[in-house]
Amino acid sequence: MIAPSILNANNMKLGEEIQEAADNGITRFHLDIMDGHFVPNLSYGPELVSAFKKEFPKLTAEVHLMSNNLPVTIPLFVEAGADLIEFHLEATDKVEEWLDYLHAHHVKAGLAISPETPVEELQLYLNKVDQILVMSVKPGFGGQSFNEKTPARVKRIYQMIKENNLEIPIEVDGGIDDQTIKQVKEAGAKIFVAGSYIFKKGPIKQQIQKLEKAAN
Ligand code: DX5
Ligand code: ZN
Repeated sequence: MIAPSILNANNMKLGEEIQEAADNGITRFHLDIMDGHFVPNLSYGPELVSAFKKEFPKLTAEVHLMSNNLPVTIPLFVEAGADLIEFHLEATDKVEEWLDYLHAHHVKAGLAISPETPVEELQLYLNKVDQILVMSVKPGFGGQSFNEKTPARVKRIYQMIKENNLEIPIEVDGGIDDQTIKQVKEAGAKIFVAGSYIFKKGPIKQQIQKLEKAAN
């Protein structure tokens, strides 16, 4: 499954570009939220998420929350109607509490992990997460190049999930193109976030098709 990140879409034509991707089979969008503190950049607020759900009620809004002010930001995005919220393992020492909070509010709970964090740190939370987001770039900006250590990290996480007899989809985010998608798919990832490849490198329809072809 491909989850386009709208970070590199044309902000002045956002609705049209989302519609075009949806017309070409995309059902889930990756909404990158940056708080200017956990990462050195700012992006959207909860209004974007509620506007998305209002305009496209059938599409899944996956929020990638790059914030460490979770007591403020998580409730805002729950209230805005996010279907799934992926917060960072590095952003809090109350990981379990926030996973429970999301479930109590009927929102799917994802855990994101940055490239420098040892993957073993996920172990404690595997029985409570609905999805794992493996960052293949440093969070904060679109258009960065893929970290070559990612496939090995995905493979290890995939093994950890199997060893625990669980079924948790692994998603990879950052630098995904028609080459890197093959490497992470082979390592066990199921969901692929692509921003610039879909919205910046050519017609949206063509880019989606190229990515799908490469993945199959
Ligand atoms: C980076 C974001 C990514 C990124 C993906 O902080 O989490 O979702 O925008 O963009 P590309 O595909 O351009 O790396
Ligand atoms: Zn992201």
